[in-house]
Amino acid sequence: MKIAVSYLKSKDDLEKTVQRIDKSMADYIHVDIMDGKFVLENNNDLLRHIKALKDCQKKLDVHLMMQGIPLLKAIEAFSRLNPEYITVHVEIEELEEVIKFIQKKKIKIGLAINPDTYIIKLRPYLKEIQKIIVMSVYPGKGGQKFIEETPAKLKILKEIISDNSYPIELEVDGGINDQTISLVSQIADTVVSGSFICLAEDIDTQIKKIKNA
Ligand code: DX5
Ligand code: ZN
Repeated sequence: MKIAVSYLKSKDDLEKTVQRIDKSMADYIHVDIMDGKFVLENNNDLLRHIKALKDCQKKLDVHLMMQGIPLLKAIEAFSRLNPEYITVHVEIEELEEVIKFIQKKKIKIGLAINPDTYIIKLRPYLKEIQKIIVMSVYPGKGGQKFIEETPAKLKILKEIISDNSYPIELEVDGGINDQTISLVSQIADTVVSGSFICLAEDIDTQIKKIKNA
């Protein structure tokens, strides 16, 4: 199981947190960008994120909670950092065009699905994507409580992926800590954890608590 660490909610500022994660045993830096439209919160200061991330060694797992032109601008900007994945939300308009836009950048595509969105919405895209992020919180902020219904949704998606041998990574995002990890660790390939890790003194200590739970 891989760990992607989100710097959205941290005891340090953005720049310091990115550096801490980059030096840690995390598998990915999970980059959460919000546009204030798709979700109410807005941290869409692209230049600041790009500047903080551009010299990182770690693979980037970019999660864009955005829509419309700002989303295309963010894809354009982050594609220059050669991220491992760019994930957009299955709930957005013109999703097919956005998927094609990312495909042209030769970057692996993820689709994130909100807690209230039915799995069926993903069906048309399963042959075109390489990751599914199942949101275990409502997107927009770190430090929220894990939604209990998530493991059932993960199990169904895991079955669809294995029954069809889709090359799709399954990721769960939100409210993951050393307690909730046991609910998803047998199903998800990657988990995102933010506040449990970045609010603490030492990142590797927290990652080990999740990996060894
Ligand atoms: C929420 C983000 C998540 C969040 C995870 O909108 O997509 O990645 O930052 O942070 P925690 O682990 O604090 O829920
Ligand atoms: Zn996220």
